[in-house]
Amino acid sequence: MISEPIIDRRDDFPKLIDQLGLKVGLEVGVCKGEYSKLLLGESRLDLLCGVDAYSNDEVLTRTKLKKCDRAPGKFEQHYEEAKITLERFGSRHKLIRKLSEEAVDDFADDSLDFIYLDASHLATGVFLDLMLYYPKLKVGGIMAIHDVWLKYRNGCTYATCAFAVEKEQLLNFTGKEREFPVYPPTAWFIKRAWSKGDYFEALYRHLPRLEATRDRLKQHRVTIFLPYEYEIEIQRLKPEASYQEAYNQEIQRLNAKL
Ligand SMILES: C[S@@+](CC[C@H](N)C(=O)[O-])C[C@H]1O[C@@H](n2cnc3c(N)ncnc32)[C@H](O)[C@@H]1O
Repeated sequence: MISEPIIDRRDDFPKLIDQLGLKVGLEVGVCKGEYSKLLLGESRLDLLCGVDAYSNDEVLTRTKLKKCDRAPGKFEQHYEEAKITLERFGSRHKLIRKLSEEAVDDFADDSLDFIYLDASHLATGVFLDLMLYYPKLKVGGIMAIHDVWLKYRNGCTYATCAFAVEKEQLLNFTGKEREFPVYPPTAWFIKRAWSKGDYFEALYRHLPRLEATRDRLKQHRVTIFLPYEYEIEIQRLKPEASYQEAYNQEIQRLNAKL
């Protein structure tokens, strides 16, 4: 049985990073460097790279900017602030001013232990970042995506959930952020190269916990959805069968109809 360490809020990632012995991280979307400061200050990461275009071009970055960020010079200010905030970490931090899709070539496949995506929040941008950076993550590393909730961030939510289902990864959500909805949930998974059977077994075992997190978030008026609706349906229809058996039976039934 594969164990799944759980965290309640994004500020707990440094603890998890150390617990799993992760050493090389990447934050995509750095802005003023506040979260990079927390990650480096509270973990034993050897290196955290930060990628940010610092551009107000909404087409190039695949973003929809708040009015305050559209003002000329605003991103230059953020860039200068980030450099000042992060210079205390010396060679432990490397700031790369590029579009995420251009910076991806700076990283070798299977070279990163931790990736935190917080750049574009539109579906196309999040999909692109997930597709481009997933191969860069080692098996056993963490992929985290910030702002996975439906209000304002529905594209980010759909992209993240669809990606997790396609790659058969178990998506967790931080369910106890300090102040909802000011601090929305971060979704994350540990990259597994597991068999379909292990994936379904983990999903089956963790569903009650994931559903409890979803329901707790709802009480705080934060709406997420679990990307495993179809799997949940099968579990309910055939609780006596093993997860994979039920799935296989269902597929056979559908194929027979075609
Ligand atoms: C929400 S802020 C990041 C906040 C930071 N992660 C934190 O928690 O302190 C988003 C940042 O992503 C950057 N960004 C957005 N789209 C990008 C893209 N396609 N490539 C690179 N950076 C991008 C923006 O310039 C902005 O600074």
